[in-house]
Amino acid sequence: MSVNIIDGKAIAALVRADVSEAVAELKETYNYAPTLAVVLVGEDPASEVYVRNKHKFTREAGMGSIEHKLPANVDEKTIINLIHDLNMDENVDGILVQLPLPKLINTDKVIGEIDPAKDVDGLTEISAGRLSLGKPGLRPCTPEGCVILAKHALKDGDNLSGKHCVIVGRSILVGKPAAFLFLEQNCTVTIAHSRTKDLDKVCASADVLVAAVGRPLMVKGDWIKKGAIVIDVGINRVANTNPKSKRKTKLVGDVDFDAAAKRAGAITPVPGGVGPMTIACLLRNTVLASCARRKMARPDI
Ligand code: GUN
Repeated sequence: MSVNIIDGKAIAALVRADVSEAVAELKETYNYAPTLAVVLVGEDPASEVYVRNKHKFTREAGMGSIEHKLPANVDEKTIINLIHDLNMDENVDGILVQLPLPKLINTDKVIGEIDPAKDVDGLTEISAGRLSLGKPGLRPCTPEGCVILAKHALKDGDNLSGKHCVIVGRSILVGKPAAFLFLEQNCTVTIAHSRTKDLDKVCASADVLVAAVGRPLMVKGDWIKKGAIVIDVGINRVANTNPKSKRKTKLVGDVDFDAAAKRAGAITPVPGGVGPMTIACLLRNTVLASCARRKMARPDI
């Protein structure tokens, strides 16, 4: 049986199309467009690319997009003052502080200043607490994207309920929230990490395997259960050893894709898998945050 390569770009485009439709309806009914404010500190090239894409897709969805660029040597108080201004600004519906922040800035403190009603990244303690308690709230974008991709990979009429989901990685941004989100789908969830014993065997028991460790090609092909759904969150830049390619480096995931694809039922590629979903879910969160804060009906997106 051939493997289903999960097309993250196409699925993200579907989510964005739903978001655009909801935005158009809000404009028509209430004469406003949800607005996302992004704070970028410093000149990390990867972060600059992310922020540029966020801006582009936010505008394409018909939403307002505000960008605040601060120099790498800015003091914490200035960032916090900016966040307070954005919290108070009636026209701002979502606030995202691009990570990582420069080393001297206390990231927890900065994130903790974001009004939870505008926390479209789902990273404040209130958002994380609501997720862990199973209460409604804003969910982190990358793990939300993983759930959407896993659902798309299911065979007709199937659902995630009862499936064993193994998440490799316990980060605050992906691993931990992903565990709660798959639990919400009634999966049996295992969180594995660098100290997990017999990691290969744990992974081999997964119906859904989410790899989010940030180590290139760490998950081997023979760790994959036949027919499993494999969601690869890793984006690692490594040397390109292909003599036919002019590029010195290439992007690979945390999973050895070629070997895993021989056993998996469905697998996300890197790039073009989880990556595009993060921004799509961010736009969705901005619309949801906007409707909740302005006391409008939650759109079905
Ligand atoms: N940097 C890389 N991924 C993310 C993300 O999901 N949110 C934020 N704020 N920064 C990031």
